[in-house]
Amino acid sequence: MHPRISNKEYEYVKEVLDQGFRTSYNGSMNKRLEAAFAEKFGTKFAISFCNGTATLHIALEAAGVGAGDEVIVPPLTMSSTTLAVLHAGATPVYADVDPDTYQISAKAIEKVITPRTKAIMPVALLGMCPDFDAINAIAKKHNLVVIEDDAECFLGKYKGKLVGTLGDMASFSFQASKHLSAGEGGMVITDNEEYAEKLRRYSGLGYGSIGAKKGRILKSDIQNPNYFRHASAGWNYRISDVCAAVALAQTERIEELVENRIESAMKTREVLKDAKWFKEQHTPDDCVNSYWGYAGKLIDDSIKWEDVYNKFVENGGPGFYAAWKLSYQEPFLQQMNLMGREKYMPLMKDMKFPMEGLCPVAESLQPRLMLLKTNYYDAEELNRDLEALYKTVKYFN
Ligand SMILES: Cc1ncc(COP(=O)(O)O)c(C=O)c1O
Repeated sequence: MHPRISNKEYEYVKEVLDQGFRTSYNGSMNKRLEAAFAEKFGTKFAISFCNGTATLHIALEAAGVGAGDEVIVPPLTMSSTTLAVLHAGATPVYADVDPDTYQISAKAIEKVITPRTKAIMPVALLGMCPDFDAINAIAKKHNLVVIEDDAECFLGKYKGKLVGTLGDMASFSFQASKHLSAGEGGMVITDNEEYAEKLRRYSGLGYGSIGAKKGRILKSDIQNPNYFRHASAGWNYRISDVCAAVALAQTERIEELVENRIESAMKTREVLKDAKWFKEQHTPDDCVNSYWGYAGKLIDDSIKWEDVYNKFVENGGPGFYAAWKLSYQEPFLQQMNLMGREKYMPLMKDMKFPMEGLCPVAESLQPRLMLLKTNYYDAEELNRDLEALYKTVKYFN
């Protein structure tokens, strides 16, 4: 198996530190990262960020989404997708998921469109992806922007195309659990120059001199007393050059890092294939799953999730992850704790999200899901965990 961190990551970080953060060099690693990422995905623009939540927020801002607008999101995902909508001052609207792939359902999206809908943020959940042709057809019909949240999907494919090249913009995360990691970090890719310029400007303090590809302010500009810096308001969501150095090395090694996950998933599948009480996440024939984790659901009501978990741990396994609570079930929406920002959000003020009944498929899936780790970089550790899993499967069969 390939190591998570190779000599390359050390080498690039050293390069940054050796430069001592001199501003004349600063940003060069970042530029190399963006160029490498755009090349891997074959897109015109790649703009780096400090994390994969900031990416989603600014993608919405670049698309012109704001107060009074609705954005359609899945409820079954890590809540950053929803939080980004709130950061933009807009309202999240939930579309239910497919019971077999767990991805947001195009049919469910169609049902929740209103005249206020501005964008759809489909998540490529757990390394797989939703039905993008159907989603793009809906977006075209209703003039909506599609922002892919691909934090959990690197090199996944849909009908032969790379996930990340299917919507108007696509967001990735380099947080520690992701296929590529820099500890923290993120990236947005797009072919649309107007979006690219706004992505960079809004995430870079609104600096007027930065365009779709130009990531730096010139020294001659800042040394000029007549220079106006800020063309617009903006956030400071830039990635540090140290994180960019790690992310560049990981981008150059993307194939091997994804290969590790797929290999671990295939071995995990082999052990679970005889478990009568477990059904794996369905990957349609025209999709390539990049297996952020190996996911499936408990299908035997006589077996408790906790009992499988406890037995796996008792057998020496590392446990497995449960699915996140649905975003609308989380306290921040149940109790509408929006940090007082709801006063700027006309649609949110009187909004109430029910605990049950909004997305019945996701609600029934969430407590049944089991997510086994695939981020192994050491065959010995994987084999030890598979042995514990094998004993667990035997016990419950
Ligand atoms: C689907 C999804 N979207 C967004 C994020 C947010 O990324 P970050 O942690 O880099 O902000 C994550 C994971 O962390 C995620 O899994």
